[in-house]
Amino acid sequence: MPHNRFQNPFRPGAGHKPPYLAGRQMETDEFKKLLEQQIILQNMVLTGLRGVGKTVLLDDWKPLAIKADWLWVGTDLSESTSLSEERVAIRLFTDLAVVTAGVVLSDQEARQIGFNRPREKRQVTLDFDTLIGIYKATPGLVADKLKAVLEIVWSCLHRDGVRGIVFAYDEAQNLADHAERNEFPLSLLLDVFQSLQKKEIPFMLVLVGLPTLFPKLVEARTFSERMFRVIFLDRLLEKDSRDAITKPIEQHADCPVKISPSSVGVIIRESGGYPYFIQFICREVYDLFLQKYEAGVKAPTVPVQDIIRKLDSDFFAGRWARVTDRQRELLFVIARLDNADGEFTVQEISQKSKAKGTAEKPFSASHISQMLATLTTAGLIYKNRHGRYSFAVPLLNRFITRQESEEV
Ligand SMILES: Nc1ncnc2c1ncn2[C@@H]1O[C@H](COP(=O)(O)OP(=O)(O)OP(=O)(O)O)[C@@H](O)[C@H]1O
Ligand SMILES: [Mg+2]
Repeated sequence: MPHNRFQNPFRPGAGHKPPYLAGRQMETDEFKKLLEQQIILQNMVLTGLRGVGKTVLLDDWKPLAIKADWLWVGTDLSESTSLSEERVAIRLFTDLAVVTAGVVLSDQEARQIGFNRPREKRQVTLDFDTLIGIYKATPGLVADKLKAVLEIVWSCLHRDGVRGIVFAYDEAQNLADHAERNEFPLSLLLDVFQSLQKKEIPFMLVLVGLPTLFPKLVEARTFSERMFRVIFLDRLLEKDSRDAITKPIEQHADCPVKISPSSVGVIIRESGGYPYFIQFICREVYDLFLQKYEAGVKAPTVPVQDIIRKLDSDFFAGRWARVTDRQRELLFVIARLDNADGEFTVQEISQKSKAKGTAEKPFSASHISQMLATLTTAGLIYKNRHGRYSFAVPLLNRFITRQESEEV
């Protein structure tokens, strides 16, 4: 079959590089500006709903930073990394060692940091063992020890034409302080970077995560307000959505699938411009169109209902299954708000729940607040710094509305 040679280019997934990274120029320009800083006054928070394209944008920035003579270290932060201060320190050394392990210290440098070259080693390098060695040999609190290591790392690196180091951490909403255990890993990270930056050491933090991230940072340290430039990634603009759909197909003469402008319009509408949904719908459309061609249909159209049904079962249903009946009732009320795809308040929900013709028992304001807190923990709702709520999953309101009409 001749079609087999050209594979379906669309990539719905977590962190999967899209066939064409659409839009995001403004955000990328902002990042480039931060790379120009000699003294780091601003770090970055890159945030947004699930599937909006944070991870792939971060991946796209890495080569830009490297081209501008920065080193790039980082990984995904898990909850277990954030359990204790020491774990964060070890995380940083593990990531740092990947780029510094090749740096050879002069005998003088090695002596300065109290490292007598072991006889069996020809040279001392900034590998993980060295970093940990300095850490252990430094007296004081975790913060003091960590700072000492990072300062030494910089004193050895900056002679090599390195402009600075970007510490890029994805899933950073997992960072948290644990006052009950007297462990403050999040505050540690913020304190250490702020202190190094004050000493004009160009180590820049790029923290990436869900919208809960920035409020968490501010709660831990109010100076985070000034320390971070926050970029909130949103759905793609219409022209960028169009590019995300058409470029992967049009750029290749041997691509067997053509999508008409009206089908492109349907995909933009149904995806709401959200990158994950664009990739998901396009992947389905691509395969379906191939089948239609085989069956002799020359100009197939997008079977919207079928694709939405698949999206509902693949993406939304799992989340919905974990919601209780009463929570569903509350979500129905919220989805009925005119501003359901933006921000809403407890008061607005409460008013709506008392509106005439509503099937559910009305909800009191305190009950709503309580339930919203549970739904926040479940990852369906989030509360911003101004106490307003939104759905934490893109297009969840449309899904809920579909469920409600099915139940009736
Ligand atoms: N600018 C873009 N143009 C086209 N496709 C994109 C774009 N950004 C992201 N995508 C696609 O959207 C999907 C989700 O992207 P990604 O995993 O980066 O989102 P995320 O914001 O990191 O999600 P999560 O919050 O779940 O970590 C991927 O399939 C990716 O290929
Ligand atoms: Mg991601």
